[in-house]
Amino acid sequence: MRLSQSNRRILMARVPQGLPTPADFSFDEVSITPPNDGEFLSRTILLSLDPYYRNVMKNNPIYAERLVPGDVMIGETVAQIVASRHNDFAVGDYIAVRNGWQEFAVSNGQGVRKLNPARAPLSANLGVLGMPGLTGYAGVIVLSNLKAGETVVVSAATGPVGSTAGQIARLRGARVVGIAGSDEKCAYAINELGFADCVNYKSGDLVAQLNRACPNKIDMYFDNVGGDTLAAVLKNLALHARIILCGMIEAYNMATPPPGPFLGPVVGARATMKGLVVYDHLHLMPELQRVVGDAIRAGTFHYREDISEGLAAAPEAFCRLMRGDNFGKALVRVAAL
Ligand SMILES: NC(=O)c1ccc[n+]([C@@H]2O[C@H](COP(=O)([O-])OP(=O)(O)OC[C@H]3O[C@@H](n4cnc5c(N)ncnc54)[C@H](OP(=O)(O)O)[C@@H]3O)[C@@H](O)[C@H]2O)c1
Repeated sequence: MRLSQSNRRILMARVPQGLPTPADFSFDEVSITPPNDGEFLSRTILLSLDPYYRNVMKNNPIYAERLVPGDVMIGETVAQIVASRHNDFAVGDYIAVRNGWQEFAVSNGQGVRKLNPARAPLSANLGVLGMPGLTGYAGVIVLSNLKAGETVVVSAATGPVGSTAGQIARLRGARVVGIAGSDEKCAYAINELGFADCVNYKSGDLVAQLNRACPNKIDMYFDNVGGDTLAAVLKNLALHARIILCGMIEAYNMATPPPGPFLGPVVGARATMKGLVVYDHLHLMPELQRVVGDAIRAGTFHYREDISEGLAAAPEAFCRLMRGDNFGKALVRVAAL
């Protein structure tokens, strides 16, 4: 190739406020860097645009990548190698590589996947056969404990993550209901992706729509959105439902997390949220009595009580409790022993 050609790049000009605008980006043109030993140069063919870039642009700490104004925008790409001094990569190879928003980039091969264009369209390697597809797949197969016949709801249903999650769930015998932002997207989810139903959250009460679409309630929710959509799903959960917190796109354009418990850190920490009802565990009562009783007697377990005197004190004691003014187990001594 002619290395005299230049490399056009798009940079982050500034951290966006709210929704990104074109003014948040800038453009430059530099000479192409030739590869050193153990490196190759590739020409970007396809650039993947992924919602998480918006989080990287505000330097959300859950991502390893950092961007400061003037940096080339990050991103995964499909590219073809145009010059190589790397033993494992040859000129002409198609690869998935993180070139970012630029026409050419040098790589040492780390994290680079070779692609076979005869096997699938190259573009799919950035979507359902790439990182987003893997996200949807792993969420369903590894995390969701899905059983055939269950009702699965997927938000951002027609995107690469949602459509993979939903279709894998369907192939596993689930009844899949999508949530999407237009009637056109919903029609696609039903007619092309084979979902049993799809609700448009922009057309009316989502809680009621989900209630209608999921008569047996929701056994598994694959959440790509967070916020109001998650809140609506939470009102339609079946017993023992599982929620896969995958993405919170509703908040990505916000400078500060929305009110209420922001569940974004649950994603970063790969944490699991499970519902607890004590009545499911009553058989453990003798064990509790033994273990904690012994520990109290041994002086290795401590507790505190907040005792009000006389039944008449009960209302105020209860109000104190509900104000959080109690300190220890709230009790009312109604009569002497
Ligand atoms: N946890 C992980 O490792 C991981 C990996 C990859 C992606 N993700 C997350 O998975 C989610 C889906 O990613 P994707 O690549 O498949 O994207 P995508 O679905 O192609 O695009 C995002 C979609 O989100 C929906 N959306 C809902 N509320 C929105 C809002 N307030 N603003 C903008 N969009 C909104 C839109 O679809 P509707 O119009 O249908 O609502 C939009 O098309 C994202 O949250 C992403 O960050 C997580």
